[in-house]
Amino acid sequence: IKIYVPRDSAAVALGANHVAKALQYAIASEGHDAIIVRNGSRGMHWLEPLVEVETPEGRIAYGPVRAADVEPLIEAGLLEGKAGHPLYLGPTEDIPFLKNQTRLTFARCGVTDPLSLTDYEAHGGLKGLRSALSMHAADIVKEVTDSGLRGRGGAGFPTGIKWNTVLHAKAAQKYIVCNADEGDSATFADRMIMEGDPFVLIEGMAIAGLATGATKGYIFTRSEYPLAIEMFNAAIEIARAAGILGPSVLGSHHAFDMEMRVGAGAYVCGEETSLLNALEGKRGVVRAKPPLPALEGLFGKPTVVNNVISLASVPIILDEGAEYYRDFGMGRSRGTIPIQIAGNAKYTGLFETAFGLTLGEIVENIGGGTATGRPIKAAQVGGPLGAFFPPALFDTPFDYEAFAARGGLIGHAGITVFDDSADMLKMARFAFEFCAIESCGKCTPCRIGSTRGVEVIDRIAAGIEPKKSLELVTDLCNTMKFGSLCALGGFTPYPVMSAITHFPDDFVGAAKLEAAE
Ligand code: NAI
Ligand code: SF4
Repeated sequence: IKIYVPRDSAAVALGANHVAKALQYAIASEGHDAIIVRNGSRGMHWLEPLVEVETPEGRIAYGPVRAADVEPLIEAGLLEGKAGHPLYLGPTEDIPFLKNQTRLTFARCGVTDPLSLTDYEAHGGLKGLRSALSMHAADIVKEVTDSGLRGRGGAGFPTGIKWNTVLHAKAAQKYIVCNADEGDSATFADRMIMEGDPFVLIEGMAIAGLATGATKGYIFTRSEYPLAIEMFNAAIEIARAAGILGPSVLGSHHAFDMEMRVGAGAYVCGEETSLLNALEGKRGVVRAKPPLPALEGLFGKPTVVNNVISLASVPIILDEGAEYYRDFGMGRSRGTIPIQIAGNAKYTGLFETAFGLTLGEIVENIGGGTATGRPIKAAQVGGPLGAFFPPALFDTPFDYEAFAARGGLIGHAGITVFDDSADMLKMARFAFEFCAIESCGKCTPCRIGSTRGVEVIDRIAAGIEPKKSLELVTDLCNTMKFGSLCALGGFTPYPVMSAITHFPDDFVGAAKLEAAE
């Protein structure tokens, strides 16, 4: 019997290691014929640690399981996948949150043993790379272009066009750099892949190498992800030993190898040029563009810089074909997107689906509303630099262009839910403060503007010339939006201005209250 206990950070934080130990003890002491597999997470955080048992009828889930539940669960027939215990959830695949997803990029996450290549191949792994090995570089690029895949890190730039620039750049050395510096609040998709299905990212990076002529890859992540670092480094070793990485990729005449590098956690190191500086051992400061990294990137060489999810989505495209992928989605947003629901939501976790669901469907139906049971006040989409959407805009479909048209962005597809107790003035202040703390200091609108922004919001809160202060914030936001060198300073106006525009009472009310005192 196989029993699955996730080794994903979220599950571990909720006690999965204790559960695994308790299960191991029970199995050994009672002489059961069972083994424990430490899988990735299925992405249903409110059910973690989610324990699954393999049965002839498929996998049966129990959760959230605590170590103290193990004995009673075994007595109630957990090893046979029996019902009868309150933590019994039935067949895993039938849990509505999972059943209603379209899992392409995350198809194996939580299903397989993340460090078993045999398991990986048994679930369709390496088919994309094998297919790419039989193609010309330009055809691989065309396939990715035709799939409509756009950068999942946040900017949504067409991946195939980026690869094409690198393919046609003349240089003796080119690089693939994977941006795994997932710094946005409410996002954990990159980490889940690194911990739950690392080979898919290795495969995607190797395909990017074949497509562009790059022979060396770097993956840059943050020190706050110790488990992901451990898992991914182990996966690289296994892939190298199996001949997937090295001088002859799967026995071909193509070479590709990679290394992982760990940053110190500065948010701005997720910006591609800061990241390249950090990789080169320099301070993580933004470089002016042009030159584009695609032409002059790492060590001045042509470099593909792609997010984890962009690269991890490539194997399925090469395996199933561009059309298969492109058939999902809406408008210019093709394929699927792993939406991450966090904050004050009832059902938090990762939900991969085709583009096009409305924000309301995601937050209210899939996320189940707020965890507190109070009315939803806002959903912030796209991390700390994303706009706050009020329920009145919940008809916005999850699509790059639709969000931009409503003054927002999808970003890395993280959604933070707030109930009606949230104070949007405080959230606007937090956005400026976050920018002030994380600013790399290279340009004035961001370095100075963020600190001035905190001060002006404090004046509004204190009721000091509220009308004039609000005009000043608007003016400051325009300067930051159009005058900053990168998205940190340039996008801070999104949360600030959306808070002011959609929740004016929180600003006027605060000023009035203070003025009356
Ligand atoms: P950008 O629009 O400047 O660039 C997008 C990408 O396209 C870059 O890699 C750029 O080098 C490339 N590019 C542009 N023109 C090209 C061409 N002609 N040929 C080849 N490549 C070309 O956006 P940026 O500053 O890279 O990213 C901003 C986004 O990052 C925001 O939307 C934000 O949501 C997101 N973000 C994500 C975070 C996360 O944790 N994943 C954290 C912070 C921000
Ligand atoms: Fe640095 Fe901020 Fe300017 Fe970006 S916007 S380059 S983080 S100072």
